[in-house]
Amino acid sequence: MATKLVGVLTAGGDTPGLNAALRGLGKAALGEYGMHLIGFQDGFRGLMQNRMVRLDEHALSGILTIGGTILGTSRDKPHKMPVGGKLVDMTDEIVAVYQSHHLDYLVCMGGGGTQKSALRLKNKGLNVVTLPKTIDNDVSGTDTTFGFDTALGIATEAIDRLHSTAHSHHRIIVVEIMGHNAGWLALGSGLAGGADVILVPEIPYDVEKIAEAILARSRGGKRFSIVAVSEGALSVEDAAIKRPIVKRIEKGEGKSDRKKAEEELAEFELAHVGNTMRLSAKLEELTALESRVTILGYLQRGGAPSAADRLLATKLGTSAAKFIHEGKSGVMAAVRGEKVVPVALEEVAGQRKLVPLDHVWFDSARKVGTCFGD
Ligand code: F6P
Repeated sequence: MATKLVGVLTAGGDTPGLNAALRGLGKAALGEYGMHLIGFQDGFRGLMQNRMVRLDEHALSGILTIGGTILGTSRDKPHKMPVGGKLVDMTDEIVAVYQSHHLDYLVCMGGGGTQKSALRLKNKGLNVVTLPKTIDNDVSGTDTTFGFDTALGIATEAIDRLHSTAHSHHRIIVVEIMGHNAGWLALGSGLAGGADVILVPEIPYDVEKIAEAILARSRGGKRFSIVAVSEGALSVEDAAIKRPIVKRIEKGEGKSDRKKAEEELAEFELAHVGNTMRLSAKLEELTALESRVTILGYLQRGGAPSAADRLLATKLGTSAAKFIHEGKSGVMAAVRGEKVVPVALEEVAGQRKLVPLDHVWFDSARKVGTCFGD
């Protein structure tokens, strides 16, 4: 059998575990299956620009525990590439680079956006295999994504630490947690860290109800509260504005309405920046308790991957190499229980995995008295 040449890139926001996944893919591809591997820098942008590095044994060594990605990353998409101040469809240029190297496969490690871009390339005839990575855990078709466990640990530790200072000062501390439009990270860390209020995009909140819950704690002698708020959490009023816009985009009826809805969404998102600060100020006003804000931000994406993420990334990386060896294409290596299975990109792309309202974490949180503002 001819030696396969595989290209790999990491795209979207960086995530702990990317290097572990590159190492898993690479070591299995080179050692177990006798393939050759080249990496493209900075996601689809580097692929388009043909910026490549050789990924040999030496390059793959010593990276298991290192955060970020040795390849670099970007959020640029093949069909919306910033070129000369404009967004240009560079899909054909990317196909040409793939062909110029006589690549047999392209492995794309990324979140929801990357899965969509990979499907686009698959539809242009490229052999693509993807891995699901994001701290948001919102990729459809897989039980989980690598990066999530590390971020969950960091956010949980932050909530633990905020408890003692909130307690000492008898304050409300509102802690903003990443997760984009899904509540996995805020819900998971809020539950693990014992937050008193957890606000997630899946459940629109009423600020009066949050204030009532905080005041009830005060009356019971607990003069501090931790509010874990997802960056995408919405008040009932904001959800009533945003959800219909998102529906219009998802339905995609007519190019011009879609474009208009996208503009309206961008405007909404801009106005939503600072939501956590406004929420904190409102809670201070309604409860007469001091309130402070902590935004965890990029801390949640930095540093070494947890043991669970190293295991997951290694498992997914080595499985991707196996899928390539078996000639599987147009698939994402997905986690199903203990197994890794190939899932067609058509089933993954364009879907977002939110926390189901009947998820056991919601149930457990409610049973320990957590307020969701509903
Ligand atoms: O997808 C990961 C994530 O960290 C989200 O939680 C967050 O909304 C987003 O990326 C931030 O994006 P950027 O790195 O482009 O600022």
